Amino acid sequence: MSPVKIGIIGGSGLYKMEALKAVEEIQVDTPFGPPSDALIQGNLDGTPVVFLARHNRHHTILPTELPFRANIYAMKSLGVEYIISASAVGSLKAAAKPLDMVIPDQFIDRTRNRISTFFGEGIVAHITFGDPVCPQLSQIITESAQSLQLDGIDVHAGGTYVCMEGPAFSTKAESHLYRSWDATIIGMTNLQEAKLAREAEIAYATLALVTDYDCWHPDHDSVTVEMVIGNLHKNAENAQKVVREAVRRLSHNPPESDAHNALKYGILTPLD
Ligand code: ADE
Repeated sequence: MSPVKIGIIGGSGLYKMEALKAVEEIQVDTPFGPPSDALIQGNLDGTPVVFLARHNRHHTILPTELPFRANIYAMKSLGVEYIISASAVGSLKAAAKPLDMVIPDQFIDRTRNRISTFFGEGIVAHITFGDPVCPQLSQIITESAQSLQLDGIDVHAGGTYVCMEGPAFSTKAESHLYRSWDATIIGMTNLQEAKLAREAEIAYATLALVTDYDCWHPDHDSVTVEMVIGNLHKNAENAQKVVREAVRRLSHNPPESDAHNALKYGILTPLD
């Protein structure tokens, strides 16, 4: 069988892809322990893909506890070259309203104590991360979302994703601070995935699904889990439509990505 080239990581609310056919569960062992869940291999409209529920299908893993390295390593070991990551986020801008979709092109790291590299312990490398997501893959996701013309849902191309530690949501002071930085959305998971995917030379991009206005908006209540889950149930179906369309486009025309050569000049330690 040809190696699977497209990986999908589903976040809160997106625990499976309903349209996946010929499904096989694969338990992947990695040097970093087990991934968040079994990887679900199958095909989407004939294209082989592998799906992983980021927080486990029973949602048992906190953002801080996520085995990011195992997840990316497992995808790489199955031959994944492109990862589409779907994630629930809060909005830091009035224009990005709940149920909208944002395809961010920048990150700000507000996490602590997370291991965000495969390197160290004798091997030194520094990847280029000025553009933390793959522009070509992001464009495919954006155009896929736009092409579906989903009722009442705006698609925002670009924007800055603040990755916070959690699990508590932000204070109002923090939320206003991020707005003063012109950030667009806030979540708890995508920065480590993007870094590790880049180190693994996998093209990575995010489809962020807005569930709330965090806690800064004067006309909206502060974010609650109830709010997040309620809106996610509403847009999980739309997220799957976008991912399915993006996989279709990607399989017809897989783009060149700088991510695929990210380590060409990145490793400083002589390896021979
Ligand atoms: N995920 C969904 N909404 C969020 C928020 N407001 N802050 C952090 N992560 C989130």
